Amino acid sequence: GIDPNFDRNREQVGEENGVAVWGPVDPPEKLGIHGSHVAVDYDICVADGACLEDCPVDVFTWVETPDHPASERKVEPTREDQCIDCMLCVDICPVDAIDVDAS
Ligand code: SF4
Ligand code: F3S
Repeated sequence: GIDPNFDRNREQVGEENGVAVWGPVDPPEKLGIHGSHVAVDYDICVADGACLEDCPVDVFTWVETPDHPASERKVEPTREDQCIDCMLCVDICPVDAIDVDAS
């Protein structure tokens, strides 16, 4: 699953869709972690979609990731500032790709 200490163990290498990107990245195969308060490991996400469907405040948006080995789309936490820390997405993701920093 996603490293919950990614913000200490990785470096921010840029921003996409207003969301921080934590490296290393080497597209299209390696896409890193997207987000800060709500973080999605793009190299783990398999586009299950439960997080996006069930988030009560619609934090997530689909983005296309053609040629990524795990899935050809991912969820961007574009409205992570709206997160109410319910932890539903963390609990529901089948591959443990999401970390929410509720501390
Ligand atoms: Fe949405 Fe809850 Fe996940 Fe925050 S913790 S992104 S509110 S499902
Ligand atoms: Fe991806 Fe998990 Fe959501 S696989 S689409 S982060 S439920």
